[in-house]
Amino acid sequence: MGVSAAPPVLRTRALSKSYGKRLAVDRLDLEIGHAELFGFLGPNGAGKTTTIRMALGLIAPTSGAVEILGHDVRKHRAEVLPRVGALVESPALYGYLSGRDNLRAFGDLLGGVSRRRIDEVLEIVALKGRERDRVKTYSMGMKQRLGLAIALLNDPELLILDEPANGLDPAGIVEMRDLLRGLVAAGKTVFISSHVLSEVQQICTRVAIINHGKLIRIGTVSDLVQAPGEYEVKVDSPVELLAALRLQTWASNARAEDGYVVTSAPEGRGRDLIKFLVENGHNPDSVSPRHRDLEDIFLSLTADEKR
Ligand SMILES: Nc1ncnc2c1ncn2[C@@H]1O[C@H](COP(=O)(O)OP(=O)(O)OP(=O)(O)O)[C@@H](O)[C@H]1O
Ligand SMILES: [Mg+2]
Repeated sequence: MGVSAAPPVLRTRALSKSYGKRLAVDRLDLEIGHAELFGFLGPNGAGKTTTIRMALGLIAPTSGAVEILGHDVRKHRAEVLPRVGALVESPALYGYLSGRDNLRAFGDLLGGVSRRRIDEVLEIVALKGRERDRVKTYSMGMKQRLGLAIALLNDPELLILDEPANGLDPAGIVEMRDLLRGLVAAGKTVFISSHVLSEVQQICTRVAIINHGKLIRIGTVSDLVQAPGEYEVKVDSPVELLAALRLQTWASNARAEDGYVVTSAPEGRGRDLIKFLVENGHNPDSVSPRHRDLEDIFLSLTADEKR
């Protein structure tokens, strides 16, 4: 007898949303498992916030569905939402109240939250010491952290954060990363959107890239950054090497990039590429498998489909 697998924490099925004629989200299929730190990436206007709003039941899909912890979000809102924490765009905070009183007010909306839990979340987001100050005196990063504290109040299993690094300085981004890592280590599932890849590249277990509402790529960061079969070669005379490579059937895509000659290898074998280079007098300073920055991949994946 098989043990039935737990349902994905978050799943979208052919999720679509149109605003008039504009398709903001286009048949999106995603599955996020337990304790994943999932990055949802796309340029401005790609459909990230629209997807997140549908996931939280804030707007209705035009077609398709979202399931959280195995429940359809539209049909089982009351069961699902208490298990989810969210931060969508800038949180609507009460500026004239202190950070602590904001947490108390949002806690009341959840049916009351203990003082102890408020202390805990203040601790988690490192606002202890400033919790009595009025929120209107907070920096952008502090407001963002308070928004996260609100999202954490009900100790959610799934945290959905829309651009959580918005407005944070580099130190704040590092803190946010550590905080999210800690939550995942404690068994939470975290779904974060971003249009800045470098922010999420280091922490996400998997990422999805969307553009014009469509899923373009999904995988681990290392899957995405590895361009299989390509090598970068450093030589003294790249022009001659390029001319020589272009005569080879296996190197038809050879090109110069960032001071390197980028090329495939004979049957994908690096050692045969080195042999070719040496035998033909193009002694290389270095030959290494090509890794692309996620940022490059993002740009090349999203640039070609501008409408
Ligand atoms: N309420 C709305 N009415 C009409 N069009 C909308 C509405 N909300 C979003 N859109 C459109 O849907 C598309 C996706 O917008 P969305 O806000 O989801 O993008 P995003 O990926 O979150 O972008 P950003 O990085 O700028 O936050 C855009 O073309 C946007 O103009
Ligand atoms: Mg957005």
